[in-house]
Amino acid sequence: MNLTTIILAAGKGTRMRSELPKVLHSIGHKPLLRHVYDLSAKLENNTIHIVIGHCSEQVKKTLADLSVNWIEQTQQLGTGHAVQQVKNQLDDNSMVLILYGDVPLLQAETLQLLLSKTNENTLALLTVNLANPKGYGRIVRDNSGKVLRIVEEKDANATEKEITEVNTGILAVKGDALKKWLSQLNNDNAQGEYYLTDIIALAVADCFEIATRSPENEDEVLGVNDKVQLAHLERVYQLQQAKNLMQQGVTLRDPTRFDLRGTITELGQDIEIDVNVIFEGENRLGNNVKIGANCSIKNATIGDNVIILPNCVIENAVVGANSRIGPFARLRPETVLATDTHIGNFVEIKKSIIGQGSKINHLSYIGDSLIGKKVNIGAGTITCNYDGANKFQTIIEDGAFIGSDTQLVAPVTIGKNATIGAGSTITKDTPDNQLTLSRSKQMSLEGWQRPVKKEKL
Ligand code: UD1
Ligand code: CA
Repeated sequence: MNLTTIILAAGKGTRMRSELPKVLHSIGHKPLLRHVYDLSAKLENNTIHIVIGHCSEQVKKTLADLSVNWIEQTQQLGTGHAVQQVKNQLDDNSMVLILYGDVPLLQAETLQLLLSKTNENTLALLTVNLANPKGYGRIVRDNSGKVLRIVEEKDANATEKEITEVNTGILAVKGDALKKWLSQLNNDNAQGEYYLTDIIALAVADCFEIATRSPENEDEVLGVNDKVQLAHLERVYQLQQAKNLMQQGVTLRDPTRFDLRGTITELGQDIEIDVNVIFEGENRLGNNVKIGANCSIKNATIGDNVIILPNCVIENAVVGANSRIGPFARLRPETVLATDTHIGNFVEIKKSIIGQGSKINHLSYIGDSLIGKKVNIGAGTITCNYDGANKFQTIIEDGAFIGSDTQLVAPVTIGKNATIGAGSTITKDTPDNQLTLSRSKQMSLEGWQRPVKKEKL
């Protein structure tokens, strides 16, 4: 049977207290609604409709790449009303799955389990037992345990409020039956809304069986209504990702202090990651990579045996095998380090290629540069790449040695095996093999006296 998924995402999310529509708030840098979409996209033969309302243009624009049918619900008159907006597009013979755009951590296995329970005369409902069921719709069963209906918190009497089995909102049922019940909904309840949950009693009246299933873990069905819940689910999600990496052999010094706000698409063996490391974007890590505490790594490719010492910031960069970075190094976009390089403390590199075996160990800025093999760049070297209007390139050829505290005023080329004397300001190209220095002569003044403090009158 074909599958149709309806994701409800029109609500305002008042309790988020934000200009941003609720479903665009993120977990792991990914909008809540994209989490739900990615999950439904895993199901085969699935047509996906997303019901949007509040800030719908912004939602569509942010998630323009999703292959879904966007449905506008101009007024939010309840979950039943939201599903009614899709009614005309539902195929009688398809199985319809309802998901919520603000319930991001549901697992595909749970949905498969739910869908496996559906058939011609069975509605499958995902429920969960909560120690604190407050705010949720309660599942009302008869003495034999058969589900009769769902009662919303605001409509429930004292006895019903004691029920701890709650409605997650997630259900699956055949299109023709759903369409029939949708047209029977009314808003005669405490909130004056069209409740989707009322279809349960209608299904029971039509002799449908209500099959309930529960997720393995209750965090899967928790929704985001405020920033506290958002933070809770962020931690749940990060712990899941940490476990996933550990299962693939990564050593995490503390899985509760690890954040992956993106992906690691290639993962070598024997990787060790210390505390408070944050990954963003798409990353690749080779074998034996060791990453020290407090590093921020975004869109990076890190080769085999690389050691990244604590407190480094790496973005859109490639680090060749056997290199050592940090502590306190910053690799900015378009940095490419060949193998066996050493980048030390307080070194900033931007848009530069650094050749094999080259070392920049202390306090330097290297920008728009092409640096050859086995180059040694002394402490405090600055490539002056910007004249206030344009950027220029610095080329340093193989084997060059740049003395400490040198300024290389680009465009400039330092020849092969050239040596630059410490403290030089280099404005012209320098020849291969020679020592070049620009430095005023040192002198000493005989008989010179230090000034002394004037006596107060
Ligand atoms: C709903 C269920 C409740 C369940 C709970 C689980 C109903 C009547 N109640 O309650 O039984 O325990 O979810 O979290 O269904 N939405 C729309 N359009 C609307 C109204 C809501 O798209 O007009 C969307 C929201 O954006 C949200 C979802 O539907 O993604 C749920 O809406 P919400 O108002 O949070 O429902 P609850 O009152 O929490
Ligand atoms: Ca809710």
